[in-house]
Amino acid sequence: YHVDMNADETDKGTYPFYMLKEVDEQPNVMRKLAQTYLSEHGEPQIDDKLIKAMQAADRLYIVGAGTSYHAGLIGKRLFERLAHIPTEVHVSSEFAYEQPMLSDKPFFIFLTQSGETADSREVLVNVNDAGYPSLTITNVQNSTLSREASYTLLLHAGPEIAVASTKAYTAQIALEAILAKALGEVNGQIIAQNFNVRQQLGLVATGMQAIVDEKATIEALANDYLMKSPKAFYIGRGIDHAVSLEAALKLKEISYVQAEGFASGELKHGTIALIEDGTPVIGFITQAKTAGLTRSNLQETMARGANTMTIARQGLAIEGDNLVLPDVDEMLMPLLSVVPAQLLAYYTSLNKGLDVDKPRNLAKSVTVE
Ligand code: AGP
Repeated sequence: YHVDMNADETDKGTYPFYMLKEVDEQPNVMRKLAQTYLSEHGEPQIDDKLIKAMQAADRLYIVGAGTSYHAGLIGKRLFERLAHIPTEVHVSSEFAYEQPMLSDKPFFIFLTQSGETADSREVLVNVNDAGYPSLTITNVQNSTLSREASYTLLLHAGPEIAVASTKAYTAQIALEAILAKALGEVNGQIIAQNFNVRQQLGLVATGMQAIVDEKATIEALANDYLMKSPKAFYIGRGIDHAVSLEAALKLKEISYVQAEGFASGELKHGTIALIEDGTPVIGFITQAKTAGLTRSNLQETMARGANTMTIARQGLAIEGDNLVLPDVDEMLMPLLSVVPAQLLAYYTSLNKGLDVDKPRNLAKSVTVE
């Protein structure tokens, strides 16, 4: 399919479903974010009042629902590594009612594609009542959460029509990386100064393109692994665990396969009891520190009959890996490793004859609590 960026943004063009168009648009969204928020020398161009407000905080709270929450799990690692600031991530519907405020200088970041999620807005109302500063990162200009936060940044990802969020998730992570670099630089963090986010986002865009050009391979894997089994597991450690949660949600919400994302080290503490003959277990292997551990966890499941698949970063790949992803900075590997998961979900739903863009029971924006 040709990604016609000039087509009316809410028109499917030659695509059978909006979701596939939105997956294909991700490389251009990365380039658009770099153009919008970085100078040609790669320096962040973010409102310095916002950066100063974040710099004054002793703790960041990232709040979101569903896929946006999953983007926050990656953001945590980016802010903690690049800006060295303690960062908590919370599901908005949980945070609204039971989170004691343990910090006296918090800064809140709301991740929300629609800017209308009631669970997240509920938290923002409380945050405003408490007088804490906040930033909303959203794809919809003038949306409720965008208007009601102290600051707002747009994803510029173009309208996301499919219920299953794809380009908004990767755009949220890319913008978190730019923000974390900006904050890390004013905090004097060398790692942030050395993090060439503009170059990295260029590599990410190229890497995403290489993956979306592999649709036939990924569709074949979906047919081999996911069409027959009522359940599936994505596993990984650390940042790969965070991606496993998003990968599982994609598969669950559009193909109705009971999919779960697990920390691969946790399998032996109970979950492995669920592994049966032919149960698909898909492992993300993108982090050098944990690659060997996840590979042995996959072996454990295979010994119990699992049908294992590996999605590995080039530099960590071995003979027999099912999908090999181009190398980018390990902190940004989620931007690449999520793309096969988006497409595995897409093809499973498509080949089951389901409505990929409008799965049962779901709405694009959940404006009720
Ligand atoms: C993700 O594919 C789902 N559509 C859903 O989990 C979504 O991410 C969640 O409802 C949050 O929506 P928001 O980003 O618009 O706040």
